[in-house]
This record gives sequence, C-alpha cells and structure tokens, in this order.
Amino acid sequence: QPKLVGPAAPPPLQAVALTQDDLKKIAAYKAVEHVKSGMVVGLGTGSTAKHAVDRIAQLLRQGKLKNIVGVPTSTQTHEQAVSLGIPLSDLGSHPVVDLAIDGADEVDPSLNLVKGRGGSLLREKMVESVAKKFIVIVDESKLVKYVGGSRLAMPVEVVQFSWSHSLKRLEALFAHAGCVAQLRKAAAEGGGKKPYVTDNNNYIIDLYFEKEIGDLNRASDAVLRLPGIVDHGMFIGLATSVIIAGVDGVTIKTKKGNEIEL
Ligand code: 5RP
Repeated sequence: QPKLVGPAAPPPLQAVALTQDDLKKIAAYKAVEHVKSGMVVGLGTGSTAKHAVDRIAQLLRQGKLKNIVGVPTSTQTHEQAVSLGIPLSDLGSHPVVDLAIDGADEVDPSLNLVKGRGGSLLREKMVESVAKKFIVIVDESKLVKYVGGSRLAMPVEVVQFSWSHSLKRLEALFAHAGCVAQLRKAAAEGGGKKPYVTDNNNYIIDLYFEKEIGDLNRASDAVLRLPGIVDHGMFIGLATSVIIAGVDGVTIKTKKGNEIEL
C-alpha cells in the first residue's frame, strides 16, 4: 500500500538580503525627501549620489518637484544630470546652495568625512562648503572611529608639476601617523599605468595611515600650506546630517542645531 503524501510544503519564506547598493539607494532616496521645489541642489558624485540624482530626475518627471537647479560636483554627475534633463547651473550664478546631497568614503562620530576616493573632492568641497544643508548618504560600511580609520586612501589633489616632491612632503608631514603616500593610477582600461587625472587636470596622491592623524584642523591647515597642494579629502565640520542605511534600518545623525525630520 503506497503511503499517501500530501502536497509538498512551500519553502520557508526567506528575507531577501539587501545588497550594499540597495542600502546606498535607501539612504539616497531618504535624503531626496528633503529636496523641495525651487531649491538649488548640490549634486554629489559616486555610486550613492548617483541614486539621489536619479531620484530627483524621477520626481521632476512626475511633476512632484518643480524648478530645481542642480549644481553638479563632477563632469560625471554633470553628464548624468544632463542625460536625465535636470536643469543645471554653477557656483558663479548660484553662489549659495540650498541643499547638497553626496556620499562619503568615511564618516567619523563627529560627522567629519573623508571624500574623494572617486576623485572629485575639489568640486565637491567647493559646492558643499556653500550649502545651507549638506546631507551625507552612506551605507553602514562607511562608519569609522576616526578619520583615516578605514585604512583606505585619504586623497589629496595636487598640481601635476613635481608631484613626487609633493608626495614626499605629505609623507613627511604625516610621519607621526605612519603615512604611506601613493600617486593614484588611472583604471587599467585605457589608462594603463598612467596617473589618474582629475576633472581639474590635477593628480591625486592617496595617503594611507597606520595610526590616528590627530587634530584634523591642524592637519588640514598644514596640508593646505604646502605649495602645490590644491585640496584634501578631509571634510571637517561640513556635513549637517548623515543618513546611514544598514541592514537593520536607517539611522540619521545630525550636527547640533541641524535637526532633520524623518
Ligand atoms: C567621490 C566621493 C564619493 O562621494 C565617495 O567616494 C563615495 O562614493 P560611493 O558612494 O561610490 O561609495 O567622494 O569623489
């Protein structure tokens, strides 16, 4: 007598794991909730900011946002925004930005950032330093205990002239933090071993630290005093809020006096 078997039980429902890109998109969409019609918006650069630019364009197409003017922080973002039909301007015509939204490579507990691993730190800093509000959008992997703490690059933009001299001076400046400096190379595709060249026709020197840098403002001043240095990727005190998307949900950290509502 064959044993009667009922229909196979359905497989247990499994939570779909969020990818890092999903988290970036969640943070980006949350930030775009703060974009209002008529605003001048700083458009960041990188894989997280790209989602924010996409979302702004979508809301414009749907008529849910009107009269937005975007100020892009790189040629890459400029091209993306043009392709999506976002009206654009620059700081010459719009010296004050209502809201800037951008990703970051590191966020420390005081909301100081490292930016520029995508190479756009100079234009990002120019735009974000004149923003009334600067919302940083990250997935939780970007949180660090201190600036440089990821042991990944802290970029410095330098003029091409005698770049190896600038590299040695930067290493010497941060000798106390066990700094190793490297000239950034272009991606292999088409670039070979050529140096990476920024939108502003400069080079990038990436700094890697073994230990904490110490006082960030002093470090910033010292770097900017070196002739040949254009700017660095430390964004000190510029972020007004940070939206962090993690597998357990979204967290918002704000600088005092810059509360944003969820
Ligand atoms: C580009 C940047 C980016 O904002 C930063 O590198 C983060 O990029 P992503 O969102 O792709 O992780 O500073 O210069």
